[in-house]
Amino acid sequence: MISMEFCFCFVVSTIICQALALETRSGSELQLLSQELLESARQPEFFEWMRGLRRRIHEHPELGFEEYKTSELIRNELDSLGISYKWPVAKTGVVGYIGTGAKPVFGLRADMDALPLQELVEWKHKSKVDGKMHACGHDSHVAMLLGAAKLLQSRRDLLKGTVKLVFQPGEEGYAGAYYMLQDGVLDDINAILSIHVLPQVPTGAIASRSGPMLAGVGLFSARIQGKGAHASSPHLSKDPIVAACSAVLALQQIVSRETDPLEAMLVTVGSIEGGRAGNIIPESVTFTGTFRSLSSEGLSYLQKRIKEIIEMQAAVHQCSATVDFMEDKHLPHPVMVNDVALYEHAKKVGKTLVGETNVHLLPITMGAEDFSLFAQKTAAAIYVIGIKNETMKSDQPLHSPYFFIDEEALPIGAALNAAVAISYLDTHVATN
Ligand SMILES: *[C@@H]1O[C@H](CO)[C@@H](O)[C@H](O)[C@H]1NC(C)=O
Ligand SMILES: [Zn+2]
Ligand SMILES: [Zn+2]
Repeated sequence: MISMEFCFCFVVSTIICQALALETRSGSELQLLSQELLESARQPEFFEWMRGLRRRIHEHPELGFEEYKTSELIRNELDSLGISYKWPVAKTGVVGYIGTGAKPVFGLRADMDALPLQELVEWKHKSKVDGKMHACGHDSHVAMLLGAAKLLQSRRDLLKGTVKLVFQPGEEGYAGAYYMLQDGVLDDINAILSIHVLPQVPTGAIASRSGPMLAGVGLFSARIQGKGAHASSPHLSKDPIVAACSAVLALQQIVSRETDPLEAMLVTVGSIEGGRAGNIIPESVTFTGTFRSLSSEGLSYLQKRIKEIIEMQAAVHQCSATVDFMEDKHLPHPVMVNDVALYEHAKKVGKTLVGETNVHLLPITMGAEDFSLFAQKTAAAIYVIGIKNETMKSDQPLHSPYFFIDEEALPIGAALNAAVAISYLDTHVATN
């Protein structure tokens, strides 16, 4: 018995030792892979190619579902790399394939669209289109994903599965992710990573967090119908201005009085329109706003109360109200929740790429991303790539006309994409 026990313990400890050895071996292999990918992406020729792509896209920004030139540039590059793809997906989107064609399938996603904003940065590659600008870094996301495509294609024989390159149109309020998913081309994806540049994080660092990361968001538009009159005869009117003001103030009390202070939610009214002259009470007033929460229950609660409060406040003032959540045009985005396992996997890879101290914990913000629609369907995670360098003024916020990217971040994004995909396939060998 004793000897058998000993024997058993010995066997168990040997297995543990072997497992540990395997773990360390794969750890250093991962380190090697990451460093090799980053070095390749930093080779002058590779870097200039990627930077050139980003600058070309930056000079020719296109809004959501109008990314014709951007899409063409992507297809041309995939053609020269010898990567096959499906196009069009959701009008201007492109999905490339690298690897065995079999499971597991790992997705890498880049959004493609620009913003209706006039660039105010004076530099050689400033936007050539008045009133349009890549102020959210989607130009760099496309370049980084094409960079990853090149890295992956040169290692395609080593891939233990398939990588899908997801170039998505219309992120900025068009729910492009939804239309990509509608196409069905992404039905077989096991997990998907998206990267986004962020000027709050220094160049050389990356950041993310496990679980909820960005808010779920919905929009509303309210119209309060009253009865107009001369300003001198308020008793002959049903004043929609007073009703709208009461409604806007009452909306502020949902979050301050009705919801748990430990649960993040917000209601913002961002536009209000009504009346044309100081001495006329108008017929109607319209106002629009957004509501956000870190839980889906929170979102539906806010939606329900916004409608009730606006309708009832209108009634108090003898007006009527209609509240439209515009869900046909502006699909609400669910909360962006990072998959725990994928977050951890990418974190491990990230450490081997940029070093442990350069993988930061990202605070939750009430921003939103339509990538959350992917996250609702499959294991998904967003990692942000730092671009902040005060010397080159790449510390301006996203969506600012002064937004500027430190292009030294491009190889990091490309290598992170590629390294996470390769190592994911390595560790998720298909079971079917
Ligand atoms: C910031 O940019 C300047 C100018 O390109 C460069 O000399 C410096 O090394 C950069 N700093 C960091 C921390 O990357
Ligand atoms: Zn944006
Ligand atoms: Zn963005």
